[in-house]
Amino acid sequence: MHNLKAIHELDSEFDYIKHKVGTTTSRLTSILMNLQDKEFILESENVIFSEIESFKKNFASLISSYRDEKELLSPILKQIRLLESDNPSIDELTAFFHKLAEVKSIFGANLEISKLDSFQNANIVATLWNQFSEFMPKFLSSIASGYVDNEERFSAVQIAWEELGEGNRNNIHAKIFRDAVEMLGIQTSLTGINCESLNILKNFLVASPSDKERLGIGLGLEIMANENISTLFKYNCFNKDKKIKLAQSDFFKIHFKNEDEHIASNIKNFTFCKSDKDKLDFIRGFKVGVKFWTSFWDEALNYIAMFGQGIQ
Ligand SMILES: [Fe+2]
Repeated sequence: MHNLKAIHELDSEFDYIKHKVGTTTSRLTSILMNLQDKEFILESENVIFSEIESFKKNFASLISSYRDEKELLSPILKQIRLLESDNPSIDELTAFFHKLAEVKSIFGANLEISKLDSFQNANIVATLWNQFSEFMPKFLSSIASGYVDNEERFSAVQIAWEELGEGNRNNIHAKIFRDAVEMLGIQTSLTGINCESLNILKNFLVASPSDKERLGIGLGLEIMANENISTLFKYNCFNKDKKIKLAQSDFFKIHFKNEDEHIASNIKNFTFCKSDKDKLDFIRGFKVGVKFWTSFWDEALNYIAMFGQGIQ
């Protein structure tokens, strides 16, 4: 019974982990209930006990990674509490999350490389961006479907709607992006360039994220939208004669304009996080979104080192 008590304690301490272990938890719960009802059948004791042991092992490893993560995120939570005590504006919250994302360190090397005005580098980045852009509506629709509350669903659906051309299929963003760069002679389907960073987003969906984790990833993906677009633009400015035409393309015109609004809409979502658990979940999701961009721009540099023009 000692093991069962330990499991019980872990279980109640970390409610959040329960949905991560899914059916195993339901199985364990039914075993525990049977035991409590004294309906325990002696012959199956060994089977049940080995099941409990393996569950305990998995559970303990989840708990320890959760504890490590909690330790890592606690200082951030403290900073947020301090900020909240001052009733922060949307701009102040944006500045906080922007700083938390360490945006400068993500773009430094790419900004240097983009100055080389290389057609090949632009082609690599455009190929990656095209894959990201094709995937985004699917990702956003998928996270949007998981919210309990329609107010929480708002930002993801609004951005997915815009990504899908706001009612005009000719304006789907992946398409108008290709239109913009193809005018420069760029093809967005370079062979051998596969955006592996998208696996971070795909894995996020598989991990059954909570409501607030979903809200957090929304902000993580948007927080550096301005830097993303301006870096993408710089890479594609290798042809100075066409720079103005590129800036006036539908894709860049739209994206130079509406990113602040998207960021503000996602920052608003943070105000739905009332408890510490909600806030930790939000930060966890936020970190996944930021990690995606770190990985995306690192990947661009790696492909440039392999197939493009790097700094000698
Ligand atoms: Fe877009």
